[in-house]
Amino acid sequence: MRLLIAANWKMHGDMSWADKPTKLDAILPADQRTGIDILICPPFPILGAIKKAAAPAKILVGAQDCHAEIKGAHTGDISAEMIASTDSTYVIVGHSERRALGESDSDVKAKAHAALRAGLTPIICVGETLTQREAGQAEGVVKSMIEQSMPDGEGDIVIAYEPVWAIGTGKTAKTKDIAEMHAAIRDQVGPKVRILYGGSVKPQNTEAIFSVPHVNGALIGGAGLEMESLAAIAKFAVNITA
Ligand code: PGA
Repeated sequence: MRLLIAANWKMHGDMSWADKPTKLDAILPADQRTGIDILICPPFPILGAIKKAAAPAKILVGAQDCHAEIKGAHTGDISAEMIASTDSTYVIVGHSERRALGESDSDVKAKAHAALRAGLTPIICVGETLTQREAGQAEGVVKSMIEQSMPDGEGDIVIAYEPVWAIGTGKTAKTKDIAEMHAAIRDQVGPKVRILYGGSVKPQNTEAIFSVPHVNGALIGGAGLEMESLAAIAKFAVNITA
């Protein structure tokens, strides 16, 4: 399975960042990463500009959220079809920072369905809170989130397991816990779905995380903003698939 190295830029970046894919390609040229996929998910206003630079650099581009409907009176929202019209191919749905604003599993499912309708691959984010983990509920919570958030029918999807308490905190889950969760998710979703780990992934912990069975890549926040660290993480993935 090809590993997917996905950078979620969140609300960072403007047009002056448009050369970042070119910079990444200079650090880790496309012919040195043929076995892996690198994806950048920038904010909406620069999606097109990043896509333009990313295409020759053989880097994939995606968005960070979409609306469930194709079009309509939804001020400030963006449809999956609009994202697809920029030739971007992925969209993150159900990130914990959006779920924290009130997004439910059924909202996430509708968004994932919209992504497939538009020909995009949804990256469906799931993860337990610290309270849920300490109460021994982590696996049950994550499995239920997946069950309720997965779109019906066929289509390429990616699951990102991101413990909420590990996002942006510098804390990563123990490899034993990642192994248990990824094995449980693999049982649930079958052999074809890529399962990413996310939550304070950085070059220093990547090797250990990528050596865990059923970790098929990473969803990276902070360490994906600088091309040096994103490339360093991607290099570990190249070494693993080589
Ligand atoms: P982080 O973010 O790598 O900064 O923890 C991960 C994410 O939110 O996807």
